[in-house]
Amino acid sequence: MPAMPEAPLLADLIVHHRATPGALLPLLHAVQDAFGHIPSEAVPAIAEALNLSRAEVHGVITYYHHFRQWPAGRHVVQVCQAESCQACGSRALTAAAERIFGCALGQTRADGAVTLEAVYCLGLCAQSPAVQVDERLHARVSEAKLARIAQQLGVQEVAA
Ligand code: FES
Repeated sequence: MPAMPEAPLLADLIVHHRATPGALLPLLHAVQDAFGHIPSEAVPAIAEALNLSRAEVHGVITYYHHFRQWPAGRHVVQVCQAESCQACGSRALTAAAERIFGCALGQTRADGAVTLEAVYCLGLCAQSPAVQVDERLHARVSEAKLARIAQQLGVQEVAA
């Protein structure tokens, strides 16, 4: 995925969505799908097309955890933080993920290998705690299972 918005592609996405009622969220999803994040350079064009202020667009981008303002790492690891997963140890699992993947929640490792993100319900509540790695869901995730996932991704532990 390209890191920066290509004007023709961004323009196409705007044209495709601008007439849709409630176009902002579908358009932001489309932009993130196309570019991997919502580039700051895209915000003025989106605001103008939808007759919104830049602050309104920025507010929506920052409100939803799903939207990224910066490019993600080569792998995206999302640890569920919603109620069922919390009841089944997602806080401890998150701490383990930060240690295993070598970056804090909401951050990307310095080597760009992994972005670690919070997510709020992956639809696997009956099999909590749940994690999504790139497009793949993992249920009943333990620290040991996370370590195996890191190994399968080829992610080396960062020396403490
Ligand atoms: S609460 Fe974590 S998958 Fe639903």
